[in-house]
Amino acid sequence: MTVESVQPEASVAPTELREPPLAGGAVPVFGHGLQLVRDPLDFMSSLRAHGDIVRLRLGPKTVYAVTTPELTGALALSPDFKIDGPVWESLVGLLGEEGVATANGPRHRRQRRTIQPAFRMDAIPGYGPIMEEEAHALTERWRPGAPIDCTSESFRVAVRMAARCLLRGEFMDERAERLSTDLATVFRGMYRRMVVPLGPLYKLPFPANREFNRALADLHLLVDEIVAERRASGQKPDDLLTALLEAKDDNGDPIGEQEIHDQVVAIITPGAETIASTIMWLLQALAEHPEHAEKVRAEVESVTGGRPVGFEHVRSLRHTNNVILEAIRLRPAVWILTRRATADTALGEYRIPAGADIIYSPYAIQRDARSYDRHLDFDPDRWLPERAGEVPKYAMSPFSVGNRKCPSDHFSMAQLSLITAAITAKYRFEPAEDCDDSVRVGITLRPDNLRLRPLPW
Ligand code: HEM
Repeated sequence: MTVESVQPEASVAPTELREPPLAGGAVPVFGHGLQLVRDPLDFMSSLRAHGDIVRLRLGPKTVYAVTTPELTGALALSPDFKIDGPVWESLVGLLGEEGVATANGPRHRRQRRTIQPAFRMDAIPGYGPIMEEEAHALTERWRPGAPIDCTSESFRVAVRMAARCLLRGEFMDERAERLSTDLATVFRGMYRRMVVPLGPLYKLPFPANREFNRALADLHLLVDEIVAERRASGQKPDDLLTALLEAKDDNGDPIGEQEIHDQVVAIITPGAETIASTIMWLLQALAEHPEHAEKVRAEVESVTGGRPVGFEHVRSLRHTNNVILEAIRLRPAVWILTRRATADTALGEYRIPAGADIIYSPYAIQRDARSYDRHLDFDPDRWLPERAGEVPKYAMSPFSVGNRKCPSDHFSMAQLSLITAAITAKYRFEPAEDCDDSVRVGITLRPDNLRLRPLPW
């Protein structure tokens, strides 16, 4: 994977640049804040009607929202914007400032060089046996007809795969449970702090604040345990954890303890949260669209000849991959991203002042009727080669583009393909009585309480 760094073409002279219009619907004091809090997905999806870039008033703050695929691509590729702003500020509370997901500038470039080899296309087959084992183990835990709690099952397999492949961590079950529970609490609290920034109130000893602090402390403890265990073992397997422990800074000196810690947090937490949420949405899609579940089952059977699906089959599972893409299009785990302008600059024909906070929503972009025919339909065939070309550039960038692009796109797609193929070969799914698949909006999107019954074909 290459880390792109492409400058957008400066097509408009600075004097012709315009200030983005203010989006409609702002009310005194709160501005657009109430709409954003009440229904963030709907609100973000409504903004393109007001302009390609619009200004939002969030209390006393002005935030710029980018609404077109082309301009979100230009934003992600421009060197005039860095990772910062409201989502970043809440992420720093979890990830620290020294890990790859939150660092900027030379430190970030150095960290990408350290982690990149573990995610390169040619490294992925090495993870094949672990991915296969975990995908099949998941289906073996389920009993036909007995409801499964998709949240904990999805987290469990996501944490185990990431930890076993990248950190060579064994015995991750108890830790997967802890990570899953901690992350749910922390991500919920972070989102609340982002949309309702009440500062000092979050320091008061209310039960919700205490629970947030406890979960955050446990997450960091868990990472310290993983690092300490590796050091105590004296082993240096060829994996990402060894690369992180052995990394040197630009002067050739070992990197500090805080950076090692933040790096592990920055890799394991986004890895677990995003994959787990995507597995939940895939399970939900398979239950909601039995015709596609059946098509996936038939494809897996024809590709494997009825044998257990393996890593070598992944590339041939075309419909399965299209189902995954379509699930990610409609329910992208990462639904909102932020940047901050580092200089007075331009995006399209608009002037963006230095220091401006920018937000955009992959959810809104990937559901836009201007980019997709029957935009809300679940239609995996839109990803067939003969139709995929109709999708405008950057209208489907769930892993983002540019120098902050997710390093894990191939790794993620391989895991998701194997999991989808393994579970669908064995089961179809029906909602259990207490299933609630409404969208829970937090830093990521996930179903509120997805409970499904696996049924044999
Ligand atoms: C960054 C999405 C899985 C590790 C990102 C970004 C997106 C993304 C959109 C860019 C954020 C930005 O532009 O501000 C996803 C999705 C996933 C996924 C949709 C799965 C469906 C993973 C996994 C890992 C991972 C499995 C690790 C095991 C990271 C890291 C970054 C990142 C470390 C920060 C990169 C940087 O800032 O240089 N991800 N991700 N992601 N992702 Fe993922």
